[in-house]
Order: sequence, then structure tokens, then C-alpha cells
Amino acid sequence: MKQSAKARFLLTRRITSAQLVFLLSASLLSPISVSAQTDVSGFWVLNVPTGDGNVMKTFFDLKQSGEQVTGSAWIHYRKMAISEGRLSGDQLHLVVALSSQHPERQTVYDGALSGDKLTMTVRLPNRPTVEASGERSTPDAMAPPARLPTPALHDVPDNGLALAPPMGWNSWNKFAGRVDDVTVRTMADAMVASGMKDAGYTYINIDDTWEGPRDEQGNITGNTKFPNMRGLADYVHSKGLKIGLYSSPGPQTCAGYEASYGHEEQDAKTYAAWGFDYLKYDWCSAGRIYKPADLQAVYQKMGDALQASGRQIIFSLCEYGLGDVWTWGAKVGGNLWRTTGDISDRWESMQGIGFKQFDIASYARPGHWNDPDMLEIGNGGMTADEYRTHMSLWSLLAAPLLAGNDLRSMSEETKSILMNAEVIAIDQDPEGQPVKKISEQGPLVVAARPLMHHTWAVGLFNRGDAAAKVSVTWKELGLRGKLQVRDLWAHKDLGRIADQFSADVPSHGVVLISIVH
Ligand code: GLA
Repeated sequence: MKQSAKARFLLTRRITSAQLVFLLSASLLSPISVSAQTDVSGFWVLNVPTGDGNVMKTFFDLKQSGEQVTGSAWIHYRKMAISEGRLSGDQLHLVVALSSQHPERQTVYDGALSGDKLTMTVRLPNRPTVEASGERSTPDAMAPPARLPTPALHDVPDNGLALAPPMGWNSWNKFAGRVDDVTVRTMADAMVASGMKDAGYTYINIDDTWEGPRDEQGNITGNTKFPNMRGLADYVHSKGLKIGLYSSPGPQTCAGYEASYGHEEQDAKTYAAWGFDYLKYDWCSAGRIYKPADLQAVYQKMGDALQASGRQIIFSLCEYGLGDVWTWGAKVGGNLWRTTGDISDRWESMQGIGFKQFDIASYARPGHWNDPDMLEIGNGGMTADEYRTHMSLWSLLAAPLLAGNDLRSMSEETKSILMNAEVIAIDQDPEGQPVKKISEQGPLVVAARPLMHHTWAVGLFNRGDAAAKVSVTWKELGLRGKLQVRDLWAHKDLGRIADQFSADVPSHGVVLISIVH
């Protein structure tokens, strides 16, 4: 007769009665035992490998009631609710929703509890599945390091860089955590081959997730996606381009990677030794240590460190406009400062940011620019009209033009938007005079910026859902008479026009003109 596997197991294992008593009592006493006695309630840490040589800590505060498990998770030290939790025997299943707006963006943890140890399979959205291990812990393990003293305020000397708003490419909008050495090298190649370099785009900027652990001397290293930062910088320079990277004044970056807290001067020296030309410095976890009142001193610390590094490095402040950064960004050595939260590749996001920038336009000047965040042109979430609005508005605002798309596969339409030399010339105008909102009637906005050579750039914008006529009078601009008008998207001279200009503007679109007086 054929024996089942279970029967074979029972028959081949001879358990003495003493062993049986031991096993039964152990199962009653120990929390590692199966079913009813297993209790996962309490605080846990799970060490999750990111696949690039780093390990991120996720913390759980769990409460068990029967099989149901509830509580919180901290991912990158941000608290999130456990939306689903179950313990069946020693099998633990947890789901953490990463976004209330996108319930499909969730991380699922499945694994086994063994005493005070956890082993779990972690499924993150758009990421390879990873195996993680953890153990019981305490909330103290999450505590940030002690606050370091901040320096007294002083004015950091001007570094003389960014006389026009920086132009280039940044990895975050398209690649986020998927950026690596090859992506950066091929993007530098594409910057040249596509004509972007000739159009003025210069910086190839690596955003978050290049960082590895620190070595024994505390020097920051690249992770396994970036095995040779020096070699990468050399490669980008060999193309006649410049290269940038990213860090945070806190202990971790926004994506949870190693950042510059307590290593500011050391990191600035490392960036200089590698040959980097641009640093984006992102507040992120600094908010766990410092108070909003410390912002200026914290950024000044890195501003000084960059100046002492022996290399000319553009300093890009990224703190989402906190503390009215436009009033002090230049004093800490900032060449540009983010004025808003993160942009996304949607009309609501882009126009919501862009049309809110007029009031602070006058704080920008050569060497020191407002940064309403990077471009989304070519990423596919907006129409060509919307992307033309994006490019026109950013140029009128004298915003940095940092393309955020894949330069290796641009459509002709995307190229025509990103490389419109007449629009770029507005952005890069050497005088750096601020844009003014001339009129706003419902969804129709007219914005104008004086340029050198007696020229005005005027954007006639339609934020509405239907095409509309938008007008500007010469009087509104302080001008009069018959003036030479050119359509900068149609690339067409419209002749000499008296008194006013009107155009039919598509929904979410723009007509951008220059007027010579
Ligand atoms: C923040 C910044 C973004 C990007 C990410 C990277 O959200 O505002 O521009 O740098 O961090 O983690």
C-alpha cells in the first residue's frame, strides 16, 4: 500500500514520551510556537535590501487580535497605516498602502515569524521582489541622531555661477530609483546626439538613489548602480557637458539613502574630487532633526562647504519653498531654490505650480533663480499644447530648464518643444528681468517679460477647457504705436501691429509672441 508523505513522516519519526512532553510544554511556553500562542504584537524592524548594496529599515508597530493584525509601518521614517494584516499560525501577511490616491501602490509583506525573528518577502510596486529579515525592536531605534549645532548666519560669497538659469537634464522625473551609471552615460550621449547640447542644455544631473554606504573613513560611496562616480564624471565631461548629483542635509535622502548630515564638508570635498559641478540639496529627513528656523543656517553650512571644496559647484536648494527661501537663498550661496512641492506629469500639477509663481518672480536675478521644479515635457502625461504651456511659462519665469524625460527616445514634437531656440532665449535672457502678470480674466492669463534689445516676450495663456480669444494691449505693457510682432511657436513674423494683439488660444494652450519696440 502506498503511504502518504505525512504517514511516512509519522512512522519514521520515533518520538519518546519524554520528547513529547518537552515538545508540548515548549509549544505552550514559547511565542515561536504555532497557532494560538504566536503573538506578533509589538515593535519590529525589517531590514529590506534595495538591490543596489543598501539596506533600508522598515519599522512596524503591530497589534494582534485573533488572526487580525493592525498598526503602523514607517517606510523612510514616514508613518503609514497597515491596510491589511493577518497572522495565520506563524505566517504573517501585511499590506501597506503607499498612497491614498493610488490604492494600487502598495507594498505587500509575506513571511514567517520565528520567535523574535521575522523573514519576509517584500513586494514593492515596480520593483523586483526582495527577501528581508528583521527582529523585535523598540521605537528608540527610529530616533533621529542628536541635533548638531548650526553655524551663525553670514553671507556666503557669490560663486559667480548660473548667470542664466541652469539648463540640463535630471534623472528623477522619468527614472526615479531606476537610474544607474549606464542610463546617465547614454543620456549624456543623447544630449549631444539629439541637439540638446547645442540648444544650451549642459548639466547631466543624477538625482536620488546613487548613494551607497559610507566607507571606514566616513566617505560617501556610490552604490552598486554607480560603481565609479569619478569615471562617470570624466565620461560626461568628455562629452563637453557638466555633471550634477544630489544629497540632503538630513541623515537620509527622500528615498531613504545615505545623506550628508554631519558630513557636509567631507561630502563637498568628495563631490569636488570626483569632479562634480552641481549639487541639488534636498531637505527631506533634515526636518526630523532641525526646526524650520534652522533652514538658513543648515543650507549655509553646505554653501560654505561647497565654496571650501576647491571646485566651482552650482548649489541648488530643494526645500519646496519652506521659510520663503527666495528671501535668503542667495545669502547661503544658493544659485537656485525650489519654490514648490514636487511637480508631476499632469496638467493640474504643472499649471497649478506654474501660474502661482508670478508674485515671487522679482526675487530671481542672474546667479540666483526661483526653481518651480523640473520639466515633464516628453514624459507622456500631457498634450503637446500643455507641454508648450509648460515650456513657455517656465521660460517666462526664468526657471531652470532641466529636462526630465528620456532624451534617447524623443519624438519630433518633444524635440520641437524642448529645443525651441526662440523660447529658450527668453529663459536665458542675460538681463534676467522678472516676468509680470499683465492680466487675468477667468482662465485667461497674459504674462510678459522685458528682454534685452527693446523686446518683450508675451505669453497669452488659456487655462480653460475650451478654445478662447486672449488679448493684450500695448498700453498694458507701457508701449504704443505700431510694433513688430513674432509668433515664437509658429516661428512666424506677424508684421507691424498697432495697439493690441489678439489670438485664438487652444484649451490649455499658449500663444507666445515677442514684441520689439
Ligand atoms: C524630493 C524632491 C524631488 C526628488 C526626490 C528624490 O521629493 O523634491 O525633486 O529629488 O525628492 O527622492
